[in-house]
Amino acid sequence: MFVTHLECTACRLHHEWSRLQNLCTACGKPLFAIVDLTAAGRTLTREALATREKSLWRYRELLPLPEYVEPVSLGEGGTPLLRAARFGGDVDLWIKDESQNPTQSFKARGMSVAVSMAKYLGATKLAVPSAGNAGGALAAYAARAGLEANIFMPRETPRANIIECRELGAHVTLVDGLITDCGAEIARRKTTEGWFDMSTLKEPYRIEGKKTLGYELAEQFDWKLPDVILYPTGGGTGLIGMWKAFYEMETLDWIGKKRPRMFSVQATDCAPIVRAFENGDSTAAEFANARTCASGLRVPKAIGDYLILSILRESHGGAVAIDDEEMIRTTREVGSSEGLFVAPEGAACFAALQYLRRAGKIASAERVVIFNTGSGIKYLDCYEA
Ligand SMILES: Cc1ncc(COP(=O)(O)O)c(C=O)c1O
Ligand SMILES: [Zn+2]
Repeated sequence: MFVTHLECTACRLHHEWSRLQNLCTACGKPLFAIVDLTAAGRTLTREALATREKSLWRYRELLPLPEYVEPVSLGEGGTPLLRAARFGGDVDLWIKDESQNPTQSFKARGMSVAVSMAKYLGATKLAVPSAGNAGGALAAYAARAGLEANIFMPRETPRANIIECRELGAHVTLVDGLITDCGAEIARRKTTEGWFDMSTLKEPYRIEGKKTLGYELAEQFDWKLPDVILYPTGGGTGLIGMWKAFYEMETLDWIGKKRPRMFSVQATDCAPIVRAFENGDSTAAEFANARTCASGLRVPKAIGDYLILSILRESHGGAVAIDDEEMIRTTREVGSSEGLFVAPEGAACFAALQYLRRAGKIASAERVVIFNTGSGIKYLDCYEA
């Protein structure tokens, strides 16, 4: 394995990868795993990838976990990239369909890698605050690893996510509040309970799993990145992970300098990143009274806000807010034109595409990728009304 150390994304302080770590011990910001790309690139080539299994562990040399350790895997990653000609109209639209992962969302990617590392480094009890899908993914991978999962979810989390976590053997606590309140409850209890905190970006390896979104996209487009990426943003882990992957791939000489314009899509009543982007701020203030049926977007404050905002600006992208009614309406439009029952978070990106096209921020014939991060099946409560 070629991870050499962990580095703070803010103050650059180095931390050891070989013990359980959460945030930077000096400044409290997220840590990134640093890979020796020269060494990794000697054994992993673009040509070698073609012969490997479909799961995200095909990028093994670029991921943490010593090579003699078996990953905790349910077949995550390797999802289809589908052309969406009917919905796309004059835009060259593609859907990365992450609902085809284990537990039906992209959260499987992060949890496969993070649970593998937590187990290897000796954790036995894991805890996570979750808007829904991360909880289901942690429950599944913890069960597979033989570890305990403690999941804190807002009481308003879609029923399917709650039932899924219980049936996968996790300890589920419903909290009267938002995901930030769930995170605070874990922070309060983790030391006495002996839990390892698996919160996104407060643990350095979920992002390593999520970065494979970027590797797969490049590979599926024959190492040419698209013009635009629309990403439904809560904590922003996938967006930050993809950006890290683009940097790594350029260093490996697998892609050139061109980057997609990255757009964060949020819900009108929980849009901290959109507001900060429009105000020209480098961090995002907590969004009061956050509400949306797209539970993955119900994140009023993201610890990686400064990373998200700098990526949106550096890539000449932006941030768009879509209201719940439009997400629900767009779900059926996508369903009837493309045959996918998308999650409301995914639907928000399709609505954002229509908005950006009308606003002239996406031109005809541009290649656009939408991440459908989850499945509509988990959100029947939203669609029943
Ligand atoms: C379906 C879905 N989409 C998007 C998100 C937001 O993901 P991220 O934290 O990477 O921004 C979530 C997070 O819970 C989710 O479940
Ligand atoms: Zn630091």
